[in-house]
Amino acid sequence: MAENQNQSQHGMWSSGALFVLAAVGSAVGLGNIWKFPYITGENGGGAFLLVYLICICLIGFPVMMAEIMLGREGRMSPINSVLKLARENNRSPNWSLIGWAGTIGGIIILSFYAVIAGWITYYVWRLFSGEFVGQDAEAIGSAFGSFLASPWQVFLWFTLFMAVTIYVVARGVNKGLELAIRICMPLIFVLLIVLLIYGIAQGGFWEGFKFMFQVDFSKLKLNSLLVAMGHAFFTLSIGMGAIMAYGAYMPQAQSVKSAVGIIVIVDTVVALVAGLAIFSIVFADGLAPDQSVGLLFATAPVAFADLPFGSIFGGLFFLFVAFAAFTSAISLTEPALAYFVERYNVSRVKVAVSIGAITWVLGLGSVLSFNLLSGFKPLFGWTIFDFLDKITTWFFLPLGGLAIVVFVGYFLPRKKVWSVLEINTTWARNTWAALICVVGPIAIGLVFVLTIVEHIPALHFLIPFLVSNG
Ligand code: PHE
Repeated sequence: MAENQNQSQHGMWSSGALFVLAAVGSAVGLGNIWKFPYITGENGGGAFLLVYLICICLIGFPVMMAEIMLGREGRMSPINSVLKLARENNRSPNWSLIGWAGTIGGIIILSFYAVIAGWITYYVWRLFSGEFVGQDAEAIGSAFGSFLASPWQVFLWFTLFMAVTIYVVARGVNKGLELAIRICMPLIFVLLIVLLIYGIAQGGFWEGFKFMFQVDFSKLKLNSLLVAMGHAFFTLSIGMGAIMAYGAYMPQAQSVKSAVGIIVIVDTVVALVAGLAIFSIVFADGLAPDQSVGLLFATAPVAFADLPFGSIFGGLFFLFVAFAAFTSAISLTEPALAYFVERYNVSRVKVAVSIGAITWVLGLGSVLSFNLLSGFKPLFGWTIFDFLDKITTWFFLPLGGLAIVVFVGYFLPRKKVWSVLEINTTWARNTWAALICVVGPIAIGLVFVLTIVEHIPALHFLIPFLVSNG
């Protein structure tokens, strides 16, 4: 692996701390604040949370370490970093498919991510305008419904979010992004806590807490395993090269394992706080916990509607969710951007605009999934939005993660990996080997096998307990 190449041609984070902040910025996003609460609601709460936390510790943690290491050792786009390491270690160049899947996956994710981020951006404006002051949960819910029904509105906000993302990405990762991260991250935490305190004050906290932490396996569906595992990848931004691309710009002297520790803990805490806040409001206002993609839009404005200065706090809350989405969106483009800059030796601006255009066209399918094409469900009853979300979260990311653990666990020299990751004691080495070589591949593989079994009724006798709850 590369010993002497300490710089990336795309630039470097100005310090180790900024790498951690940037990675936290990528990890903390709509996945934590918008997606995690509603999938927890749909999958029954506590038992789902437990499975999710197990996936984070046993799979998420080692995959993130492996992925950052690949980036830092390769110092190039994910495609070329993996290619370089494969060549240096006399392995097949086909391993670079890891980078390809991530590059394409990132564009697909961005195409629907920016649609939701567009809704969030619209809600910044909507809350600041005071429209919801004094309104009840029902009125706020139906206001969300009529917004979604209008393709032009959704289209407009999606386009706006995409344009800003591409503008900043084109300017390079150092400028703009680092500054945005420094300002936004602390504010996100403060505002989440405000929302949580409000949820507690509303009287729904205990019920929300029970919903999230009371483990009742009978509520867990078989498919919940795939949902939990997929989300562990999605929320940590792993399995598709985003964190690998960021790792390529991290200082050589920085410790990978401490960085990963911080990123994983912060990401998980933000998701838990967001979940607690949202479910406190859900139960205080008599809403249903399982209302899918609209959950955040139905709950947060209700909380702020009758709070003193609610429109200001509410506007600020959505503003920082928008920033969180933004710092994630930027990382989604980086694998593709870096690759095409390397490959064609053209400017970042040109590449950024091309990627933006492709993503924008793809995103139109998700824009229309909530209105004109809401009835168009060619596969498994999924809209275009569902399809893009599920194939990436459930398949691209976990399979990318599987390929990463196998590559690092079996195809790179173990001693070198230990030294790069500073895994020094025998205990740590054994744990690492167990996670990367055994637990990771088996756990990811098992979830896929169970999912396949679930879809083939003739095989249900293999897992009667789980299927009967499905
Ligand atoms: N982790 C981001 C979130 O939780 C989404 C993301 C996924 C970003 C994959 C980059 C790569 O919102």
